[in-house]
Amino acid sequence: MTSRLPGFYTLPVEERMRIISNLCDFSAEEDRVFEPGGGLAMDQADKMIENALGVFTLPIGIATNFQINQCDYVIPMVVEEPSIVASASNVARIVRKAGGFTAQASQRRMVGQVQVVNCPDSAQSRTRLMNRKQDLLELANQAQPKMKARGGGALDLDVRILNQESPGSWPDMLVVQVAVDTRDAMGANVIDTMMEAIAPAVEKISGGAVYLRILSNYTDQCLAQARCAVPAALLATETLPGEEVRDRIIAAYGFAESDVYRAVTHNKGIMNGIDAVAVATGNDWRAIEAGAHAYAARNGGYRSMTQWGIGPNGELTGSLELPMPAATVGGSIAVNPSARTALKILKVSDAAELAQVMVAVGLAQNLAALRALVTDGIQKGHMALHARARTPAPSESHDQRYTPTRRPKLMEMRRL
Ligand code: MEV
Repeated sequence: MTSRLPGFYTLPVEERMRIISNLCDFSAEEDRVFEPGGGLAMDQADKMIENALGVFTLPIGIATNFQINQCDYVIPMVVEEPSIVASASNVARIVRKAGGFTAQASQRRMVGQVQVVNCPDSAQSRTRLMNRKQDLLELANQAQPKMKARGGGALDLDVRILNQESPGSWPDMLVVQVAVDTRDAMGANVIDTMMEAIAPAVEKISGGAVYLRILSNYTDQCLAQARCAVPAALLATETLPGEEVRDRIIAAYGFAESDVYRAVTHNKGIMNGIDAVAVATGNDWRAIEAGAHAYAARNGGYRSMTQWGIGPNGELTGSLELPMPAATVGGSIAVNPSARTALKILKVSDAAELAQVMVAVGLAQNLAALRALVTDGIQKGHMALHARARTPAPSESHDQRYTPTRRPKLMEMRRL
């Protein structure tokens, strides 16, 4: 399968859907899933949240051209900001000429926490808990036997004494911290159930009182990385040589490394792409956001999530590493046919592969934003696309506004 779909943007929506349907071998139901009323049904929505009024719609688009670890991916993105899909596709087209993105994912260990207060002696309580580590892990796994049967489950346990680690104004408290392999699920419910299951034993062993029993969204043992190396010539614009664009991109990275006002915006641009894939695939984008921003501040200051530099042959090198608790099963994916269909488009075999795709999209989105910012400025592309979404003149029908013949002009402006 190729993700290089030249002229895809010029086609009517129905034709684009037909191409994706053929590529992904859609069923009749999947063919209709992104049509109004075709996705999440009213009764499903009503069971999902309290006080449901209906379903809320957003556009789903396809980022083309992506090549990651030598495999092509067409990438579903749900987002309202006009330029995100176009700019990701544009940069992916450039990067594929340079061999595409490489990506990898670490082990998948999520973290659960049990807070223990009022221990008579923190150090002794810690020792007692650590001595019963295997019993506590077994209790956690008994609470979620299916996870163990799938090859995951609670793997390791540590006990931290807070405030001895970082002295503050709070009295000492213990945190029992459990590492859980949640396989292809994000695992929030699994971990919360496990933490609640071990809490009575933790109280008894420690002699303290358990308050919070909850997963942590700081998933720094579930990382994914993406890299790219782009010959400078591929970055050239009509007015600027590639070396100049490369150096300006690196200076833009330096700006984000040095200034929190810039770093937040820089990182927001990265999350534009990651969130759009997360929403499309039914993932918990708030968890991904929270973990990503905390990771950007892991060395004490809030920094750029990406790193940009010059490789041995003068190429622009980029990398992005983030906690990526992506899931391909469980949660809303189980009930939302749109999310399941988006995952089918991606053709990822597991959550680790999805995590790799998501960081590669984040890296592409950052390169797209920086390249635009250091050359034409962001407004040129933005405004062209905003103009397309304008209110139709009374005499102009939907079909007239969206004719294939008009689209190339807009796309040419962005050199797609
Ligand atoms: C807009 O949604 C994202 C950008 O502001 C990101 C950036 O400034 O790097 C363009």
